[in-house]
Amino acid sequence: MKNFTCVQDLGDLKQALNDAFEIKKDRFQFTELGKNKTLLMIFFNSSLRTRLSTQKAAMNLGMNTIVLDVNQGAWKLETERGVVMDGDKPEHLLEAVPVMGCYCDVIGVRSFAKFENKDDDYNEKILSEFIRYSGRPVFSMEAATRHPLQSFADLITIEEYKKTKRPKVVMTWAPHPKSLPQAVPNSFAEWMNAMDYEFIITQPEGYELDPKFVGHAQVEYDQKKAFEGADFIYAKNWAAYRDPNYGKVLSMDRNWTVDAEKMMLTNNAYFMHCLPVRRNMIVSDDVIESPQSIVIPEAANREISAETVLKRILMDLE
Ligand code: CP
Repeated sequence: MKNFTCVQDLGDLKQALNDAFEIKKDRFQFTELGKNKTLLMIFFNSSLRTRLSTQKAAMNLGMNTIVLDVNQGAWKLETERGVVMDGDKPEHLLEAVPVMGCYCDVIGVRSFAKFENKDDDYNEKILSEFIRYSGRPVFSMEAATRHPLQSFADLITIEEYKKTKRPKVVMTWAPHPKSLPQAVPNSFAEWMNAMDYEFIITQPEGYELDPKFVGHAQVEYDQKKAFEGADFIYAKNWAAYRDPNYGKVLSMDRNWTVDAEKMMLTNNAYFMHCLPVRRNMIVSDDVIESPQSIVIPEAANREISAETVLKRILMDLE
């Protein structure tokens, strides 16, 4: 595997899951694979889990790691071609990216949607330029439209906890005071659609996701109806996708908060969230602290998803 940006890059998903479970049995079994190889992790946005889990995964594989927070200590980067660079950005991405490629063997990139230009976001402008100009294999550590390492960890977690072959998985919109990208819900939908699960998305009117990601999911506007009989509740906020409201917060209705009363409608469902989570906006304290909350094992599986992906990239390095 050269680049990793979406579920399709893994090929056979069952095989990828088997690989992940093998790694989980002994995460140090491939420690020679990354010897004398360097992972450069580029962050345009903040992170706790992605930063730690990906670095740990690389270390498990014997790699060296360099972490760069672009907005803290590096030159401010211009991303538009053709501009007269007489402002506050002294370096262009078109030089910075190939230079970064000189110092490493593999690059991970985190670059969220900016909500300034929908086409730039949905064409993955920044991630694509790393793939095009770095000369190195590139993987997404959350891009504008997808967060595949998170979705892979989510899938591993569901496979570990599911009690039936074909669980009912419900992804629910939940309120948040800030405008958040659609990367996590898009990606989760994409990965759920790749499995033979019963998959439902519930959201208020106006929060419909790009149909490309919704795929064959059932969309239900009545959250309580969607929760009935669910085996997994996956909560997430996202900003509006459809024009003219792209990137806007249309509602902060706390009737959509996941609480114990709603969880009672489910089949004793597990509660999932990618974290960080705003308590008592997205989910009530009692639900996230309940035995049915699996947000910590879900986060722990980020190390496994990252190691599985990095291992494949290392195996195909030229
Ligand atoms: N879930 C996730 O990607 O967490 P961070 O933003 O902290 O990396």
